Amino acid sequence: MATRYIPALRFDWLTRFYDPVLRATLKEEALKRRLVEQVDLRPGQRALDLGCGTATLTIMLARACPEAEVVGLDGDPRALAIGRDKVSRAGVTVELHEGLADAAPFPASTFDRVASSLLFHHLDADGKRRALARVRELLRPGGELHILDWGRAGSALMRVAFLSVQLLDGFRTTTDNVRGRLPALITEAGFADVAETHRARTLFGTLSLYRAVRP
Ligand SMILES: C[S@@+](CC[C@H](N)C(=O)[O-])C[C@H]1O[C@@H](n2cnc3c(N)ncnc32)[C@H](O)[C@@H]1O
Repeated sequence: MATRYIPALRFDWLTRFYDPVLRATLKEEALKRRLVEQVDLRPGQRALDLGCGTATLTIMLARACPEAEVVGLDGDPRALAIGRDKVSRAGVTVELHEGLADAAPFPASTFDRVASSLLFHHLDADGKRRALARVRELLRPGGELHILDWGRAGSALMRVAFLSVQLLDGFRTTTDNVRGRLPALITEAGFADVAETHRARTLFGTLSLYRAVRP
């Protein structure tokens, strides 16, 4: 069964504040730029931004490689409305779709890259597994998955800082993240060469970048 989405800042009425909050607190631009570099999108390739929210990363991917096809998917129509407005102001060509990660409505084996930023800590363990299984289906053999999300706390201070995220987003969906379980879940879903490629200390805990290949 597909799950419902949890909004970007847990409550619908906070969604309009999401972009300024992220910019101010999470080194958003630098980390998303690093993610875009890691995705390394090439002309002619097709990329999915899973849980695209207000489409900041989707737009950055499209700007990094205008000759690629970039598609965003999110469960929240309010976040997508903000995203559509940003897309038209940015003057880039991307498609934004409404849908859930574990039921992403695209044909199998049609993406070269799937990128996802700050989605997986909104999913419980089963939701993470289902979303990863769907990503595996959507990627072509040799296609790559790139995730930016909360990872294993790098220090006691980072662990305490992360409690603020857990109080907002809930312990059920965030505990696997802070225990560093994402790589194991990605491996279990049938991906190869799973690696944590970067860690960053932020005001709210440790953010990790992961990379994996669909065999
Ligand atoms: C913290 S926001 C991140 C948004 C964006 N990727 C970013 O980095 O700014 C998490 C997003 O995941 C979406 N989301 C949560 N659960 C989802 C699900 N099961 N399927 C699709 N989207 C989901 C929310 O609607 C929200 O827009």
